[in-house]
Amino acid sequence: MTGELRRNVILSWTEEAYEVPILSRPLFGFHFHAVNDPDAIRAVLLDRVSTYAKPALLGRLAGDLLGRGIFAAEGEDWREQRRLMAPVFTPAAIKGFMPGFLDEARVTADGWAAEAPGVIDVAAAATATTFRVICRALCSSEPLMATDEAAENVAAALASLGDFRAGALMGVPWLDASPRLRRAAKGRAFIRDAMARFLAERRAADDPPDDFMTRLLRVFAETHPPDEAARLALENAVTFLVAGHETTANALSWALYVLSEQPDVQDVLAAEARDALTETDPDAIIEWTPYLRWVLDEVLRLYPPAPRIERQAVADDELCGHEIRKGDLVSVWPWVVHRHRALWKDPDLFDPENFSPEAKAGHHRFQYIPFGAGPRVCIGAQFALAEAQLILATWLSRYRFSPVPGRQVEVQADIALRPKGGLPLRVEVRS
Ligand code: HEM
Repeated sequence: MTGELRRNVILSWTEEAYEVPILSRPLFGFHFHAVNDPDAIRAVLLDRVSTYAKPALLGRLAGDLLGRGIFAAEGEDWREQRRLMAPVFTPAAIKGFMPGFLDEARVTADGWAAEAPGVIDVAAAATATTFRVICRALCSSEPLMATDEAAENVAAALASLGDFRAGALMGVPWLDASPRLRRAAKGRAFIRDAMARFLAERRAADDPPDDFMTRLLRVFAETHPPDEAARLALENAVTFLVAGHETTANALSWALYVLSEQPDVQDVLAAEARDALTETDPDAIIEWTPYLRWVLDEVLRLYPPAPRIERQAVADDELCGHEIRKGDLVSVWPWVVHRHRALWKDPDLFDPENFSPEAKAGHHRFQYIPFGAGPRVCIGAQFALAEAQLILATWLSRYRFSPVPGRQVEVQADIALRPKGGLPLRVEVRS
């Protein structure tokens, strides 16, 4: 794999991939299986979860950024971290963050007033907004992290994570020496250093604010000695920073892209949002924007911000009549499953009705997996959904978004699915 294909793996799917229950092929000395059948996905992510571990390669690629935090951990280590972190993401805990979602959405919307009507890169604006949100939730907008420099370093670290890295695959990571990967290494070092300095300050604070970092330190301190608790808090805080903002930013960008092509739907959503925003309770705003939620679900179907879920078999198995051998790579691609010809009617069309209660009742639980499924389902899913819904309601109530004539929007996918080269849209104030 070279050039554009290396950076944009989505291009490698043929039409056949969207039609078959499973696709098996050799890949650089491994056997690779892309699983599309919902029952087989259920087997991989839920029923036989102990047979399908996170790939060994993931630890090598992500280890120096995410350490042994929840994302790459396995077995008892993972189970304990997940159990300890559950209270950090209860509905009540997420509700506490909601005013922050609305405030940061307003800051961005206020900033657009000076530029509208005009062309604005809404992908960059979405990323800046969700970065401020996660910094606020994680570390109460600590000055060490809530800066443009930090945001650029996080972006550089993320941009390379999904690169196909031959060196890492072969166990010789120093072979991967492109400028992009060097920038990524610098980004990783910056993040870990800034977060470690922040953590040291936080550990010494007498009356720390009630944010993710304080909560992480508290839950890990219950069962671990202080230095071990601090390491786990640090690695999981970096994980939240990395996993928890670009994904949501891409959800926002794809929503605005789809809606820019659907002015009528946008008008309906704007009216719904304006009514809902007369409420002051964020839960009520979410409750009174039900159509926005259908649209958001449909956007996450067509453009899943995490387009691939990777596993590696640790024992022999069989899926859809295909032999799976220990060591084989087994991959579930929400991008492919969500557009599979056997699972969806008109799979490439935008249709929020796919998420009406009646339509949802007919879905297989494992045919719609933007947040994964089973025990390793995204721990931040409810945080992300509430954040996206409140930010979109705020933006759509105030602005109209339309395409820039002549500009083609293209998909780029590595571990994230983003609009290639940003997303300039025409933005104008709604009267
Ligand atoms: C639209 C936004 C998001 C999407 C589409 C998304 C998607 C996913 C997916 C597909 C997985 C499963 C990966 C696997 O099974 O290999 C996952 C796991 C995870 N996500 Fe998210 N995510 C989003 C937002 C967030 C946020 C906001 C946070 C934290 C604040 C977060 C933290 C995590 C963590 C820690 C895991 C690992 C869970 C575990 O292994 O137990 N994510 N996410």
